[in-house]
Amino acid sequence: MSKVIVAPSVLSADFGNLERDIQMLNSSEAEWIHIDVMDGVFVPNISFGFPVLQAIGKHSKKVNDVHLMIVQPEKYLQQFRDAGAHMITVHYEAVTHLDSVIHQIKKTGAGAGVALNPSTPVSVLKEIIHLLDLVLVMSVNPGFGGQKFIPYTINKVKETKALILASGSPAKIEVDGGVGLNNAKELMDAGADVLVAGNAVFKTENPVETIRQIRNIGTK
Ligand code: DX5
Ligand code: ZN
Repeated sequence: MSKVIVAPSVLSADFGNLERDIQMLNSSEAEWIHIDVMDGVFVPNISFGFPVLQAIGKHSKKVNDVHLMIVQPEKYLQQFRDAGAHMITVHYEAVTHLDSVIHQIKKTGAGAGVALNPSTPVSVLKEIIHLLDLVLVMSVNPGFGGQKFIPYTINKVKETKALILASGSPAKIEVDGGVGLNNAKELMDAGADVLVAGNAVFKTENPVETIRQIRNIGTK
């Protein structure tokens, strides 16, 4: 089995030592860095905005994977791109004209992703799946790191995989929330290509080693 892409979430990083933590990720086997932007409207929490993103973008040597948990993301797409985003993911639940927003993301040169809350069915992506570079399956309700994984979302990963195979879409599947060494293998088997891990990486003694273990979990 091939290796999974690990996307450590900087939401769990030490913001007083952000450069140190980004350099740590640069030295690790993580291929992506997951960056959670929260507006206190779409989700009940506020994370950070452009100055922090620019600081991450300045030091990161990885794919900067920006997860927008904000309303009206279309207002800021170019700014996120300019701040260093390689992948820009918007929430299905936060956008009215999704087809248009996906095209706007692609116009910036970034990859386009759509995230689904746990309660949103995969079938809502049927008409647009061929346009996407990424489907983000939320395995917790978005807003906070360190939550418990919701088991029924594994089935959504399988459904997303089936939709991608049936449509011929190049989209990758990313799973976000409560992911760690305990469920990484099961998620890979279900079809996940990218695993976001916040607490499971940053709250361990040796994050670089934990990233290596998650990355290689399917090769055992
Ligand atoms: C939650 C965020 C996640 C979060 C994951 O709304 O989208 O990316 O950082 O954190 P863990 O891995 O700790 O659940
Ligand atoms: Zn996220």
